[in-house]
Amino acid sequence: MVQIAPSMLSADFLHLQKDVEMVNEYADLFHLDIMDGVFVPNLSYGFPIVEAIAKSARKPLDVHLMIVSPEKYIERFAKAGADMISFHLNATENPSMVLSQIRSLGLKAGLAINPDIEVESLFPYLEQVDYILLMSVFAGFGGQKFIETTYERVRTLKNELDSRGINIPIEVDGGVSPTNAPALRQSGVEILVAGSAVFKSSNPAATIASMRA
Ligand code: DX5
Ligand code: ZN
Repeated sequence: MVQIAPSMLSADFLHLQKDVEMVNEYADLFHLDIMDGVFVPNLSYGFPIVEAIAKSARKPLDVHLMIVSPEKYIERFAKAGADMISFHLNATENPSMVLSQIRSLGLKAGLAINPDIEVESLFPYLEQVDYILLMSVFAGFGGQKFIETTYERVRTLKNELDSRGINIPIEVDGGVSPTNAPALRQSGVEILVAGSAVFKSSNPAATIASMRA
């Protein structure tokens, strides 16, 4: 079963409660994008927003860190209400340590890569992660165009997971919409992140339903 994770980066921050309620009712996860202006050329939001969403959220918080040295902030995001935390493979010197740091706090640990990083570079960590986040755009901004080579990357990863008997979900993030959702589901993606497709839609509930169907 696929899970739909609306990216709150595209939510209406002036009426956040309304968008939180929409996710509570129709989606599966809250996808929260944290950017530091260093790992990616953009800033997003931090602890106060995560805490505010956590207060009303009835679905798990999936925190996607696009920051350098994620190890410095894991504990605070856990305290702020994260249920899952992913960080980028090349954002830290010691990915294994960060993965075990996340798990030791009782959270699910995810490893993320941008489209220009070989899928094979994830292979040494597959026994240490609870999910993999494959970016289907370059991390940093919502509203970008989906990169088609993602399908092949999903297949490569899925084959490796299957051949090693590892059963963890693959999450895809960036430019996901009702148009590409069927092909992504078919290639074995289990978590679909969608920001603009959901929040710029005139009917977010129907959009989520159509990505799930
Ligand atoms: C991009 C973020 C995404 C983004 C997705 O760096 O990781 O989660 O919000 O937005 P859309 O779905 O608009 O591409
Ligand atoms: Zn994201």
